[in-house]
Amino acid sequence: MNRRDLMVGGAVSVAGMALPFSPGAFAAEPVAAVPPATTKVSFAVNGSVRELEVDTRTTLLDVLREHLKLTGTKKGCDHGQCGACTVHVDGRRINSCLTLAVMHEGDAITTIEGIGSPDHLAPMQTAFVKHDGFQCGYCTPGQICSAVAVLDEIKAGIPSHVSASLTEPPQLTRDELRERMSGNICRCGAYSNIAEAILEVAENKA
Ligand code: FES
Ligand code: FES
Repeated sequence: MNRRDLMVGGAVSVAGMALPFSPGAFAAEPVAAVPPATTKVSFAVNGSVRELEVDTRTTLLDVLREHLKLTGTKKGCDHGQCGACTVHVDGRRINSCLTLAVMHEGDAITTIEGIGSPDHLAPMQTAFVKHDGFQCGYCTPGQICSAVAVLDEIKAGIPSHVSASLTEPPQLTRDELRERMSGNICRCGAYSNIAEAILEVAENKA
């Protein structure tokens, strides 16, 4: 058998294996629609107990924005990368896009609406206004929620990557602040003004 015979023979066998095409041959079998799994969850948001029935896959962020209409908490990346969705849960800051609502049964959640209101701004909000700590404002609720939590973390002596190796309790240096606020991204680049606002609140509290 020479090379030409081999190629012709191979082509004939492949053609023999080919199946006639039928348009319906690969049509998907109809699948019965499965209703989403829902469950009840109850937690306090800004001091008010809220009871909800939610799809178990719903994030805390979506429950706050879509179910409770607390749209101060922003959705930036929805992937834990920007910090726009930062809220407090039992006094600790978290990215609400990274946690499911059903995981927070009985928790106390604070959003930017619970930090202060336009008529009664919290000191951190006042300082952000005074120092122009924002431009478009989209990241600002998350920045403020983080900033409030940062001061509490330092007061409680919780170390960061910067202060982890120190024997002394963490201090609010600019490096420390930069590290602790690094999860909150500002596309407008208002970082230096944000830092000034936080430092002023920290000084007034000291
Ligand atoms: Fe949650 Fe960006 S929206 S971290
Ligand atoms: Fe625009 Fe921060 S003020 S993203």
